[in-house]
Amino acid sequence: MAQPSVSPPPPILAVEALTRRFGGLTAVNRCSFHVDAERITGIIGPNGAGKSTIFNMVAGALPPTGGRILFDGRDITGLPAHALFRRGIVRTFQIPHEFRRLTVLENLMAVPADQPGERLWPVWLAPRAVERREREVRERAEETLDFLTLWELRDELAMNLSGGQKKLLELGRAMMAEPRLVLLDEPGAGVNPTLLVKLGEMIRQLRSERGYTIVIIEHDMDFIASLCERIIVLAEGSVLTEGTMAAVRSDSRVIDAYLGGGEEDVSDDGA
Ligand SMILES: Nc1ncnc2c1ncn2[C@@H]1O[C@H](COP(=O)(O)OP(=O)(O)OP(=O)(O)O)[C@@H](O)[C@H]1O
Ligand SMILES: [Mg+2]
Repeated sequence: MAQPSVSPPPPILAVEALTRRFGGLTAVNRCSFHVDAERITGIIGPNGAGKSTIFNMVAGALPPTGGRILFDGRDITGLPAHALFRRGIVRTFQIPHEFRRLTVLENLMAVPADQPGERLWPVWLAPRAVERREREVRERAEETLDFLTLWELRDELAMNLSGGQKKLLELGRAMMAEPRLVLLDEPGAGVNPTLLVKLGEMIRQLRSERGYTIVIIEHDMDFIASLCERIIVLAEGSVLTEGTMAAVRSDSRVIDAYLGGGEEDVSDDGA
């Protein structure tokens, strides 16, 4: 008698023939790849390759023109951002989206969806539950600030933070959502080298200690190489190749794509 076969768990995220057109421009072109759970996966590719557009579609900010997005094996194509957020999909932005006139602590406390205090009736019906919930959110925000080493800045207005500190705050806002899948769009851009090392350690810790699945778009090849076992290379809206950093950086098609794109550099010597 045949043994029942044990199939491997589905990848946490799969995109299938994902496509996005803007007028005559096909920014993402029948793009297919998957992301394994509890891993850090890198996405690289020249400017305009379609990386951020893919994040926009996965996070529900932009409806695809075609193709499918599966999360935990379920079709989530076209669901709005708030529905995906509730399922644990969060993204950070290439340009940080902080609330400029709120403090650092308030920025974090503003994140969790469905805070009972935001609706009126629970305050009447269950004031203690509302208080308890607010206390929990505050504690989580304080823990997050501690983790990010932003504790000293908790009462500072977000608009006064440095570029690097804003990137940390952006990561903190993602952490407040208790996410399962975190999409980081160029977390290292504009971050000084010392802070970048710290940011890398934090990302590694979020995966190993909290079990986050993390996908990082980044142009800093050393940063990507230090964090990701698997790297997906995009060019002109499609996957060019994938593999370890050693494999993709020696792939002549990858080098050609970057040279064609002009600005980026994947060679070792930084020349
Ligand atoms: N809302 C939009 N409307 C029109 N065109 C867009 C829009 N968003 C992106 N595009 C175009 O789609 C293409 C892919 O853009 P995208 O931002 O996804 O690239 P990227 O890989 O993230 O690039 P970068 O590395 O520079 O951030 C580009 O040609 C861009 O100009
Ligand atoms: Mg981008």
